[in-house]
Amino acid sequence: MSLDARTTVGVVGAGTMGAGIAQVAATAGHRVLVHDADAEAMARARKVLEHIHNRLVEKGRLTRAAAEETLARVSFEHRVEKLAPCGLVIEAIVEDLDVKRALFASLEGVVDQGCVLATNTSSLSVSAIASACRENARVLGVHFFNPAPLMPLVEVVPAIQTKEDVVESTRRRIDDWGKTTVRVKDTPGFIVNRVARPFYGEALRILDEGIADAATIDWAMTEIGGFRMGPFALMDLIGNDVNYAVTETVFRAFYNDPRYKPSFTQKRMVEAGLLGRKSGRGFYDYSDDARNPDPNRDETLGREILNRILVMLINEAADALYWGIASRDDIDLAMTKGVNYPRGLLLWADQFGIREVLAHLDALQKEYAEDRYRPSPLLRRMAQEGATFW
Ligand SMILES: NC(=O)c1ccc[n+]([C@@H]2O[C@H](COP(=O)([O-])OP(=O)(O)OC[C@H]3O[C@@H](n4cnc5c(N)ncnc54)[C@H](O)[C@@H]3O)[C@@H](O)[C@H]2O)c1
Repeated sequence: MSLDARTTVGVVGAGTMGAGIAQVAATAGHRVLVHDADAEAMARARKVLEHIHNRLVEKGRLTRAAAEETLARVSFEHRVEKLAPCGLVIEAIVEDLDVKRALFASLEGVVDQGCVLATNTSSLSVSAIASACRENARVLGVHFFNPAPLMPLVEVVPAIQTKEDVVESTRRRIDDWGKTTVRVKDTPGFIVNRVARPFYGEALRILDEGIADAATIDWAMTEIGGFRMGPFALMDLIGNDVNYAVTETVFRAFYNDPRYKPSFTQKRMVEAGLLGRKSGRGFYDYSDDARNPDPNRDETLGREILNRILVMLINEAADALYWGIASRDDIDLAMTKGVNYPRGLLLWADQFGIREVLAHLDALQKEYAEDRYRPSPLLRRMAQEGATFW
């Protein structure tokens, strides 16, 4: 298995992610062949790439010649058969297992035996996608974040079937594109979409209990916690429909584990069309004459909110390590590079104190008598031993 700078890269799906991934690979010098079932999607993607490169030239980030060379490396193909020369194909089509499996099965008839087939799925089982192929050892997940050209993190997800040299060579190639790769087991939500759930879920819970309003929770997380955005502002940016769907998928995939239980408040907002920025209103009002409430800047309340959300995040990170989902380094890298957390959660746990984290979780579990607050066995073990993550 060898992927190098001369490898032709195929991208199937020319939507938001496919266009971004094509840009990343072309910028790194690859010849890129993009295919989409919808000709209009390809025309739009071509326009998007031209527009982005024009802007980069205007801003002085790229010479006109370099921009033209990069664009010339990308071609749009109406027939999937044209992807035959590819050594790596990255799929970024609709998030539907049957549709993806059908595509992977047909790609096998197009490309050579040595071609690596990768999926950008956010929530489906990579092993289930791989099993659609006869030669399933060459299939793996490469999960880019949106927007792909700007977000540094890529989660590399071997299926049960994937051969080690496929994982290694794909990872090296994507590292060479200037990305930060982390390796993660094929489990729901991978690292980021699993470990980040309490950032939204616990914030919604605090809101639902009437402990604080959205503005106050956001203030606590940004001003005291140092997060770039508060959970409610971020849910409004992501879109409540998208954020709710991820939570529900993770909750279901974990056999209804109460740790990931979705919130009725967010569900009703989706049903009411209060999707966030894109619909003009979500937790906040985005109209021109909007007057959003000021936060209650009570330091004690703010710390209580931050600590409750933070210990729940740390519990997820510790549990992901406990179950071997990813390494300590990769879990901390994923959260700082994938969702811009101010610190890695395991490092933050050490600084907060493992015993203090455990005491907070134990207190929450005692108060609510809910399995949602059960501490990871790893935290309990480490607290007994006086151990630290780093
Ligand atoms: N949008 C995100 O923030 C994000 C982030 C990470 C991963 N993902 C994942 O990336 C994938 C693509 O997401 P997106 O947001 O770019 O979607 P999108 O809707 O913007 O684009 C999907 C494209 O796939 C095309 N398509 C559908 N079925 C096809 C087929 N059988 N053959 C060829 N083309 C087909 C559609 O015409 C469309 O242009 C999904 O698996 C999604 O879960 C999305």
